[in-house]
Amino acid sequence: MLSIGDVKVNTKLILAPLSGVSDLAFRMISREFGAKFAFTEMLNACSIKYKSKKTQSMLLSNSKDKPLGAQILGRDIPIILNALDVIQKSGVDLIDFNAACPVRKVVRRGEGAALLKEPKTLKKIVRELVKHTTLPITVKIRSGWSHNEINAPDMAKLLEDAGASAIFIHARPQTQLYSGRADYELIRKVKSSLNIPLIGSGDIFTPADVKRMLDETGCDAALAARGAIGNPWIFKQTDYFLKTGRLLKPPTIKQKIKVMLQHLDMMIELYGEKRATARFRLFIPSYLKGISGARKVKARMAQMKIRRQLKDALATLNQPSYS
Ligand SMILES: Cc1cc2nc3c(=O)[nH]c(=O)nc-3n(C[C@H](O)[C@H](O)[C@H](O)COP(=O)(O)O)c2cc1C
Repeated sequence: MLSIGDVKVNTKLILAPLSGVSDLAFRMISREFGAKFAFTEMLNACSIKYKSKKTQSMLLSNSKDKPLGAQILGRDIPIILNALDVIQKSGVDLIDFNAACPVRKVVRRGEGAALLKEPKTLKKIVRELVKHTTLPITVKIRSGWSHNEINAPDMAKLLEDAGASAIFIHARPQTQLYSGRADYELIRKVKSSLNIPLIGSGDIFTPADVKRMLDETGCDAALAARGAIGNPWIFKQTDYFLKTGRLLKPPTIKQKIKVMLQHLDMMIELYGEKRATARFRLFIPSYLKGISGARKVKARMAQMKIRRQLKDALATLNQPSYS
């Protein structure tokens, strides 16, 4: 059982915060296939202050979307505390603070991973968050800013002292973005000095990857990020693999198509058909990875504006090709 403050979840695989991806539809599809804890998309504290409709819609949830974490991005304490207030009222179960986002426009503002260069500021933010809520506060960090500035072990300890209930660590420095391998040895080092739970992130694509993360680092759970996009099955598969050492059968093409259309339908409910279909394009390559004939569907993707077009294109996958 993973216990983060008073949030208790029986899982070793948590659905990561994924900007532009982890909306209510994505979370509900993931939960249907076994995700027991999920995050909203990253919420910019400034956008909450200015009542951005887009950011407010990121807080849409329902009674089955639980337990749910929300992640705040920011650096100005009053603005962050205002966001905390708004987010708490939406009924989430945990608040994570982002000190991991590597995107240029974010770090230029001194937010996200840039805060790894300012331990005192980050500690102060976390202390204030802890002081102003009864919800568990967690922090997502990276290994450090660059390969020469790896400071996750000290940073994690500092954040534990500031009152964080758990640490999420993406074991790549900011300068590495998403390339190369994540450093599991570093996660092991961070884990050995912490008393609060540590959740490891980086290179989680299969149930065996989750087992490797747990075995090599001793961390309490792993985050499913890129490996969960177009692959909600990873949650049940991992659960089964960790319990039995055996792999479940992968989904058939027919099952994949059914889930894709179900996912799109949930997005249509959220955004309307035109916006949902455009946004769903992002998921198509991942859902169809490794399927023969998928290239033709992907080629038709740019033109897809309505659900019917996706349905027709996917129908070609079920038929033998004689060309
Ligand atoms: C499309 C995308 C969006 C992401 N958005 C966020 C985010 O909003 N907040 C965050 O803390 N991490 C975010 N991440 C990082 C992931 O949560 C995760 O730490 C990272 O992808 C490493 O895991 P992986 O190698 O298994 O994908 C994002 C990653 C991707 C690929």
